[in-house]
Amino acid sequence: MRIPTLISNRARVRVSSLSALHLIQHNSTAAQPPNANSSNPKLASALPEKFPPLSPDARKFLSRLIRVDQAGELGADLIYAGQQFVFKRSMPSLAPLIQHMWDQEIHHHKTFDDLQNKHRIRPSLFSPVWKVAALGLGVGTAMMGKEAAMACTVAVETVIGEHYNNQLRVLVQMLEEEMRTSKNGRDSDELRALANTVRQFRDDELEHLDTAVENDAEKARPYMLLTETIKNGCRAAVWLAERF
Ligand SMILES: [Fe+2]
Ligand SMILES: [Fe+2]
Repeated sequence: MRIPTLISNRARVRVSSLSALHLIQHNSTAAQPPNANSSNPKLASALPEKFPPLSPDARKFLSRLIRVDQAGELGADLIYAGQQFVFKRSMPSLAPLIQHMWDQEIHHHKTFDDLQNKHRIRPSLFSPVWKVAALGLGVGTAMMGKEAAMACTVAVETVIGEHYNNQLRVLVQMLEEEMRTSKNGRDSDELRALANTVRQFRDDELEHLDTAVENDAEKARPYMLLTETIKNGCRAAVWLAERF
């Protein structure tokens, strides 16, 4: 019975981010509704053309964040596109559930596309590879069946949930530094908007993880081999997309 392990993994992803989440909510003076199901499209457009004056390291971190997250959401978009291509034909009853998660990924993808364009950050040099790999992963796992497709979601969202939490911790540190050093004792609206975007998307991904567990992900065979392989692939892709 592996479901308790999965749930505890998910809980660990959440618990490890609680302090970061608390600080973001505590520091936030603007109303940013934490609605996990309707990530606010206005967040991206609220960002200015340039981030406020930041250290070179902070600027480098933000560039990497937007580059890797755009690549990740591009991949997620295409994984669900591949799965939906198969399930619309082989299992129409599953199509609405896949479509719901896909719609959220389309929104995540567009948000980071907009941020990338706004801040003139080049996309990952491996973008063509991510496209082919993600589409292949989506089609391939869907052809293995519903359980394998859900196991794929468990693996991807576990890695991406942790990834977003790691980014949130750094963003919170940057916000605290801004509050310490700014003349008016406030953090920047721009950084806070970005942190809220990451937090909302993290919550969406964890909802996908829940959905996959509830839809028999653990019945996939061979579950461990499948999920560990996909997790390792995702971690490698994150590492590469941050740098290239
Ligand atoms: Fe996403
Ligand atoms: Fe997702």
